[in-house]
Amino acid sequence: MGHVGLYRLVCLSAWFILKAAAESMVITPSKLVVKYGDAASATCSTTEQKHGGMGWEASEGGVDIVEGVQQVTWAVPNITHWDLKPICYMISENVEQLVKELNIVIYKLPDSIDVKKCSEPLNEGETCTLQCDIKSVAPVKNLQVMWYKQQVVLENVTFNENTMSPVEKHLNRSIQASRNDDGAEYWCEAKLELGPEGPQPPPTKKSEPRRITVHYKPRFANDTETIEAGNTTLNCTVKANPPPVYTWEAPHLDETFYGPTLSVTYPGNYKCTASNQRGNATKLFIVKPYPNTVFLVCLLIGIFVALVLIAAVIFTHWKRKQGRAANNSIPSPADQKEEDVELVKK
Ligand SMILES: *[C@@H]1O[C@H](CO)[C@@H](O)[C@H](O)[C@H]1NC(C)=O
Ligand SMILES: *[C@@H]1O[C@H](CO)[C@@H](O)[C@H](O)[C@H]1NC(C)=O
Ligand SMILES: *[C@@H]1O[C@H](CO)[C@@H](O)[C@H](O)[C@H]1NC(C)=O
Ligand SMILES: *[C@@H]1O[C@H](CO)[C@@H](O)[C@H](O)[C@H]1NC(C)=O
Ligand SMILES: *[C@@H]1O[C@H](CO)[C@@H](O)[C@H](O)[C@H]1NC(C)=O
Ligand SMILES: *[C@@H]1O[C@H](CO)[C@@H](O)[C@H](O)[C@H]1NC(C)=O
Ligand SMILES: *[C@@H]1O[C@H](CO)[C@@H](O)[C@H](O)[C@H]1NC(C)=O
Repeated sequence: MGHVGLYRLVCLSAWFILKAAAESMVITPSKLVVKYGDAASATCSTTEQKHGGMGWEASEGGVDIVEGVQQVTWAVPNITHWDLKPICYMISENVEQLVKELNIVIYKLPDSIDVKKCSEPLNEGETCTLQCDIKSVAPVKNLQVMWYKQQVVLENVTFNENTMSPVEKHLNRSIQASRNDDGAEYWCEAKLELGPEGPQPPPTKKSEPRRITVHYKPRFANDTETIEAGNTTLNCTVKANPPPVYTWEAPHLDETFYGPTLSVTYPGNYKCTASNQRGNATKLFIVKPYPNTVFLVCLLIGIFVALVLIAAVIFTHWKRKQGRAANNSIPSPADQKEEDVELVKK
């Protein structure tokens, strides 16, 4: 085909004349962002009146040289080439060949995007690698892949490659399973950042979210809980996967009880053990006597102490009186009266 020869010529001479071309030729739009399979068109115009003809060189939608026109339009109903580089050319008055290349980006969202999980169930602390498989996306240099956990971006990956045709991408993301990951959803999203000329907002495709299961043993936030009331329900419920089984023991109880809660009437220490395949944890509930009893005990102690004090005061008083009578150091007025009486008798 004559086009191929002309294309070569254009390429060889392009470097030397692009500057000149930029001044006398204009392509609108200046940048074209088209989805693969869609229609596209661009117009090349010139202000030069006396040129030797102009046209478009392209693997799709080429236009043969036309004379006596101010503009030529390149148009395709359905873009099916990835390496499309339409070039507008013109033979100038002094038989120079001028060229200008259309700035075109042909894009395509992936056919599929999918997250592969690691083998489950995971145990707490284990690492696993999730894989995001992206099939057939272009152009890769405009691709951005984001890893999400729930609604939070974990990682944002871009590619520094110039392949124009669709590529496959497999991204790995290593995670260390924690108890908080149990039930968490991971997913990845492909986004084509095509600039202001591209569709707004940028086209995206998300994978299905993958819910992961983590097995972990029970762990109490507090190993001990003190409860002030008597008639109460002790609640030993704790998070663990698989759900734990509960056993209750108390020194004053002969039986072992089962279940997440225990109704108690009597004070004492109650030990709850929660266990699953991953391990177990123990929590001590200290049930204090009823506040009423405490009050009564205090009241009784108070009364007792008061009685003891009163008794002590009375006793010391009586003891002192006895002491004075024995010494007879300071005679009482009554004693003096008796002495007077005796003196009178003598
Ligand atoms: C464009 O071409 C592709 C591949 O030949 C085809 O699958 C698609 O249906 C075409 N689209 C239109 C609008 O003609
Ligand atoms: C991802 O990174 C690119 C550049 O590295 C940045 O422009 C973009 O905002 C980031 N996106 C998110 C969601 O973090
Ligand atoms: C991603 O992980 C898979 C195995 O899970 C491995 O075969 C592949 O090479 C890894 N890819 C990269 C880019 O590390
Ligand atoms: C654990 O016990 C301490 C002291 O009794 C208390 O301050 C704290 O709030 C408790 N934490 C929880 C999660 O119950
Ligand atoms: C404790 O609960 C039982 C039954 O639920 C009830 O009969 C009893 O009166 C309660 N005792 C106290 C001190 O609240
Ligand atoms: C025990 O506590 C859990 C949360 O810690 C709660 O969901 C549950 O309803 C409680 N059970 C009872 C019987 O109070
Ligand atoms: C709790 O775990 C320990 C080892 O960590 C084990 O020896 C014990 O038997 C377990 N108890 C229960 C009730 O599962």
